[in-house]
Amino acid sequence: SRRIRAIDLAKRKAEGRKIIALTAYHAHTAGILDPYCDFILVGDSLGMLMHGMESTLPVTLEMMIVQAQAVIRGTSRALIVVDMPFGSYEASPQQAFLNAARVLKETGAGAIKMEGGARFAETVAFLVERGVPVMGHIGLTPQSVNTMGGFKVQGREADGERRLMADARAINDAGAFAIVMEGIVEPVARAIATAPEITTPTIGIGATMACDGQILVLEDMLGLSDRVPKFVKRFGTLRGQIEAAVKDYAEEVRSGAFPAEEHTYQPL
Ligand code: KIV
Ligand code: NA
Repeated sequence: SRRIRAIDLAKRKAEGRKIIALTAYHAHTAGILDPYCDFILVGDSLGMLMHGMESTLPVTLEMMIVQAQAVIRGTSRALIVVDMPFGSYEASPQQAFLNAARVLKETGAGAIKMEGGARFAETVAFLVERGVPVMGHIGLTPQSVNTMGGFKVQGREADGERRLMADARAINDAGAFAIVMEGIVEPVARAIATAPEITTPTIGIGATMACDGQILVLEDMLGLSDRVPKFVKRFGTLRGQIEAAVKDYAEEVRSGAFPAEEHTYQPL
């Protein structure tokens, strides 16, 4: 069996089958998700989730490449999509292509994702024409935190629907194989996801159930992150489970209950 390709997501949409996606940064967790996800995103959220950064802005291309290599090693089926970090694609279509080509060549991933709407349409087209499948990302785009003035839900302002529809339309028409829609008020997100002119699959995160698929940050949905946005449903309670295991370990080492006979090596 071969990996799912970027172009296969269009088939899911055509058949009305939901597109399932999660993020992963590590070989072993990616391997657990692999049978259940159409695509796995190596998100630049790794800056916050793995490294404790306050935003995704300090994340480098090298960091993305190292974790994408890990995720590729741990998987065999899902499409792997890698985020282009802040500063690696905005300057020009040429800059974006050179860095995206590095990502695909050095990791074996099947696609990249770039934040931004209408003003990045030219870059999306430039990459797609040159063999780089591009996933768009509109609405709440965390790399713009400093110009947006925080992580704010998008589409509430008077011309919000018009602006976001124009962003989706531009990225769609430029040839993106899918569009992530993040943090967009429900009626606006629904209008975009159900618009006949948006032919490429839409992937929601804090958007609408009308999207063709959904994505969440793995650590958030597992209950490992300490603070999560309203749009996250916690499907697990990993933080509590890890804490309980660490407490048991500490107690057993202290009391001498661990290691027991069966954890030691005897001479032959
Ligand atoms: O970096 C990331 O994890 C993302 C998802 C939230 C879509 O971009
Ligand atoms: Na991201």
